[in-house]
Amino acid sequence: MKEIQILDKCFVPYLKEEEILKAIDAVADRMNSDFKGCDDVPVLLCVLNGAVMFTAELMKRLDFPFEFASLKIRSYEGTHSTGTVNLVNGFNGDVKGRRVIICEDIVDTGASMEFLLDYLEHAGATDIKVCTMLLKPDVFRKNFKIDYVAKSIPNDFILGFGLDYNELGRGLKDIYVIKQ
Ligand code: IMP
Ligand code: MG
Repeated sequence: MKEIQILDKCFVPYLKEEEILKAIDAVADRMNSDFKGCDDVPVLLCVLNGAVMFTAELMKRLDFPFEFASLKIRSYEGTHSTGTVNLVNGFNGDVKGRRVIICEDIVDTGASMEFLLDYLEHAGATDIKVCTMLLKPDVFRKNFKIDYVAKSIPNDFILGFGLDYNELGRGLKDIYVIKQ
Protein backbone atom coordinates (compact mmCIF):
# COMPACT_ATOMS: atom_id res chain seq x y z
CA MET A 1 0.00 0.00 0.00
CA LYS A 2 1.32 3.40 -0.83
CA GLU A 3 0.11 6.97 -1.36
CA ILE A 4 -2.50 7.51 -4.02
CA GLN A 5 -3.55 10.64 -5.87
CA ILE A 6 -7.28 11.15 -6.58
CA LEU A 7 -8.12 14.35 -8.46
CA ASP A 8 -6.44 17.18 -6.47
CA LYS A 9 -5.93 15.21 -3.23
CA CYS A 10 -3.34 12.79 -1.94
CA PHE A 11 -4.36 9.88 0.31
CA VAL A 12 -2.24 7.62 2.53
CA PRO A 13 -2.99 4.07 3.76
CA TYR A 14 -5.14 3.96 6.87
CA LEU A 15 -6.96 0.63 7.38
CA LYS A 16 -6.06 -2.59 5.65
CA GLU A 17 -8.74 -4.83 4.21
CA GLU A 18 -7.95 -7.60 6.75
CA GLU A 19 -8.54 -5.21 9.65
CA ILE A 20 -11.84 -4.00 8.17
CA LEU A 21 -13.01 -7.58 7.58
CA LYS A 22 -12.13 -8.54 11.15
CA ALA A 23 -14.23 -5.62 12.46
CA ILE A 24 -17.11 -6.73 10.17
CA ASP A 25 -16.82 -10.29 11.54
CA ALA A 26 -17.37 -8.92 15.05
CA VAL A 27 -20.43 -6.87 14.00
CA ALA A 28 -21.90 -9.89 12.19
CA ASP A 29 -21.40 -12.07 15.29
CA ARG A 30 -23.30 -9.59 17.44
CA MET A 31 -26.07 -9.20 14.88
CA ASN A 32 -26.38 -12.98 14.49
CA SER A 33 -26.82 -13.44 18.21
CA ASP A 34 -29.35 -10.56 18.43
CA PHE A 35 -31.44 -11.89 15.53
CA LYS A 36 -31.01 -15.59 16.28
CA GLY A 37 -34.29 -17.49 16.02
CA CYS A 38 -36.30 -14.42 14.96
CA ASP A 39 -39.60 -15.43 13.40
CA ASP A 40 -39.94 -12.41 11.11
CA VAL A 41 -37.76 -11.56 8.11
CA PRO A 42 -36.03 -8.23 8.75
CA VAL A 43 -35.10 -5.90 5.90
CA LEU A 44 -31.36 -5.29 5.49
CA LEU A 45 -31.26 -1.83 3.94
CA CYS A 46 -28.09 -0.85 2.10
CA VAL A 47 -27.56 2.90 1.87
CA LEU A 48 -26.14 3.49 -1.59
CA ASN A 49 -23.62 4.22 -2.83
CA GLY A 50 -21.14 4.13 0.03
CA ALA A 51 -22.38 1.08 1.95
CA VAL A 52 -22.31 -1.28 -1.02
CA MET A 53 -19.06 -3.05 -0.11
CA PHE A 54 -19.74 -3.11 3.63
CA THR A 55 -23.26 -4.54 3.15
CA ALA A 56 -21.95 -7.19 0.74
CA GLU A 57 -19.35 -8.34 3.28
CA LEU A 58 -21.80 -8.16 6.18
CA MET A 59 -24.53 -10.17 4.49
CA LYS A 60 -22.15 -13.02 3.63
CA ARG A 61 -21.70 -13.44 7.39
CA LEU A 62 -25.35 -13.31 8.52
CA ASP A 63 -27.03 -16.58 9.37
CA PHE A 64 -30.65 -15.47 9.88
CA PRO A 65 -33.13 -14.90 7.05
CA PHE A 66 -33.33 -11.29 5.82
CA GLU A 67 -34.55 -9.42 2.77
CA PHE A 68 -32.09 -7.15 0.97
CA ALA A 69 -33.22 -3.66 -0.08
CA SER A 70 -31.50 -0.41 -0.97
CA LEU A 71 -32.01 3.28 -1.39
CA LYS A 72 -29.75 6.09 -2.46
CA ILE A 73 -29.12 9.36 -0.64
CA ARG A 74 -26.59 12.10 -1.05
CA SER A 75 -25.25 14.75 1.31
CA TYR A 76 -21.54 15.10 0.61
CA GLU A 77 -19.84 17.34 -1.97
CA GLY A 78 -16.08 16.79 -2.21
CA THR A 79 -14.79 16.34 1.35
CA HIS A 80 -17.64 18.04 3.27
CA SER A 81 -21.26 17.48 4.16
CA THR A 82 -23.61 19.99 2.50
CA GLY A 83 -25.90 19.74 5.53
CA THR A 84 -28.87 18.77 3.38
CA VAL A 85 -29.72 15.17 2.62
CA ASN A 86 -31.35 14.30 -0.69
CA LEU A 87 -33.08 11.08 -1.56
CA VAL A 88 -31.71 10.23 -5.00
CA ASN A 89 -33.48 6.88 -5.49
CA GLY A 90 -36.39 5.79 -3.35
CA PHE A 91 -36.61 2.63 -1.39
CA ASN A 92 -37.09 -0.54 -3.46
CA GLY A 93 -38.98 -2.67 -0.95
CA ASP A 94 -41.76 -2.55 1.62
CA VAL A 95 -41.01 -1.83 5.27
CA LYS A 96 -44.55 -1.44 6.57
CA GLY A 97 -44.80 -3.53 9.74
CA ARG A 98 -41.24 -4.82 9.27
CA ARG A 99 -38.02 -4.64 11.26
CA VAL A 100 -35.25 -2.81 9.39
CA ILE A 101 -31.46 -2.88 9.79
CA ILE A 102 -29.93 0.18 8.13
CA CYS A 103 -26.41 -0.50 6.77
CA GLU A 104 -24.29 2.62 6.32
CA ASP A 105 -20.66 3.11 5.34
CA ILE A 106 -20.03 5.90 7.83
CA VAL A 107 -21.89 8.06 10.33
CA ASP A 108 -20.27 11.48 10.42
CA THR A 109 -22.56 14.35 11.55
CA GLY A 110 -25.46 11.88 11.66
CA ALA A 111 -27.63 14.04 9.37
CA SER A 112 -28.01 11.27 6.75
CA MET A 113 -28.99 8.68 9.35
CA GLU A 114 -31.45 11.06 11.02
CA PHE A 115 -33.07 11.61 7.62
CA LEU A 116 -33.28 7.85 7.03
CA LEU A 117 -34.76 7.10 10.45
CA ASP A 118 -37.48 9.68 9.81
CA TYR A 119 -38.10 8.34 6.31
CA LEU A 120 -38.42 4.72 7.51
CA GLU A 121 -40.64 5.62 10.47
CA HIS A 122 -42.99 7.38 8.06
CA ALA A 123 -42.88 4.32 5.80
CA GLY A 124 -44.16 2.24 8.75
CA ALA A 125 -41.10 0.27 9.91
CA THR A 126 -41.77 -1.19 13.37
CA ASP A 127 -38.23 -1.37 14.70
CA ILE A 128 -35.12 0.17 13.18
CA LYS A 129 -31.54 -0.82 13.99
CA VAL A 130 -28.62 1.33 12.88
CA CYS A 131 -25.49 -0.45 11.66
CA THR A 132 -22.47 1.43 10.39
CA MET A 133 -19.03 0.30 9.30
CA LEU A 134 -17.41 3.50 10.59
CA LEU A 135 -18.27 6.25 13.06
CA LYS A 136 -16.62 9.63 13.57
CA PRO A 137 -17.54 10.15 17.26
CA ASP A 138 -15.93 13.61 17.44
CA VAL A 139 -18.41 15.00 14.89
CA PHE A 140 -21.51 12.99 15.76
CA ARG A 141 -23.97 15.29 17.57
CA LYS A 142 -27.35 13.59 17.18
CA ASN A 143 -29.11 11.60 19.84
CA PHE A 144 -30.31 8.49 18.03
CA LYS A 145 -28.84 5.17 19.09
CA ILE A 146 -26.23 3.50 16.92
CA ASP A 147 -26.70 -0.21 17.48
CA TYR A 148 -23.71 -1.63 15.60
CA VAL A 149 -20.37 0.05 14.80
CA ALA A 150 -17.51 -1.87 13.23
CA LYS A 151 -14.91 0.84 13.94
CA SER A 152 -14.66 4.39 15.31
CA ILE A 153 -12.23 6.72 13.54
CA PRO A 154 -10.91 10.30 13.96
CA ASN A 155 -12.49 13.19 12.08
CA ASP A 156 -10.42 12.94 8.89
CA PHE A 157 -11.67 12.46 5.35
CA ILE A 158 -11.22 8.89 4.16
CA LEU A 159 -11.96 6.85 1.05
CA GLY A 160 -11.98 3.28 -0.20
CA PHE A 161 -14.05 0.19 0.66
CA GLY A 162 -17.12 1.87 -0.86
CA LEU A 163 -16.36 5.42 0.26
CA ASP A 164 -15.56 8.03 -2.39
CA TYR A 165 -14.03 11.39 -3.08
CA ASN A 166 -16.27 12.98 -5.74
CA GLU A 167 -17.39 9.47 -6.80
CA LEU A 168 -13.85 8.13 -7.20
CA GLY A 169 -12.04 5.55 -5.07
CA ARG A 170 -15.01 3.38 -4.10
CA GLY A 171 -13.40 0.19 -5.42
CA LEU A 172 -10.23 0.39 -3.30
CA LYS A 173 -10.12 -2.65 -1.02
CA ASP A 174 -8.26 -0.82 1.75
CA ILE A 175 -9.22 2.49 3.38
CA TYR A 176 -7.07 5.59 2.84
CA VAL A 177 -7.01 8.90 4.72
CA ILE A 178 -6.41 12.33 3.24
CA LYS A 179 -2.79 13.48 3.58
CA GLN A 180 -2.53 16.54 5.86
P1 IMP B 1 -23.38 12.51 7.71
O1 IMP B 1 -24.74 12.77 7.14
O2 IMP B 1 -22.66 13.78 8.03
O3 IMP B 1 -23.41 11.57 8.89
O4 IMP B 1 -22.50 11.88 6.57
C1 IMP B 1 -22.73 10.61 6.15
C2 IMP B 1 -22.42 10.39 4.70
O5 IMP B 1 -21.40 11.25 4.21
C3 IMP B 1 -21.89 8.99 4.58
O6 IMP B 1 -22.94 8.13 4.25
C4 IMP B 1 -20.84 9.10 3.51
O7 IMP B 1 -21.44 8.80 2.28
C5 IMP B 1 -20.40 10.53 3.54
N1 IMP B 1 -19.12 10.67 4.28
C6 IMP B 1 -18.94 11.07 5.55
N2 IMP B 1 -17.66 11.09 5.90
C7 IMP B 1 -16.97 10.66 4.81
C8 IMP B 1 -15.56 10.44 4.54
O8 IMP B 1 -14.66 10.62 5.37
N3 IMP B 1 -15.27 9.98 3.28
C9 IMP B 1 -16.22 9.76 2.33
N4 IMP B 1 -17.54 9.95 2.55
C10 IMP B 1 -17.92 10.40 3.77
MG1 MG C 1 -23.13 6.75 2.80
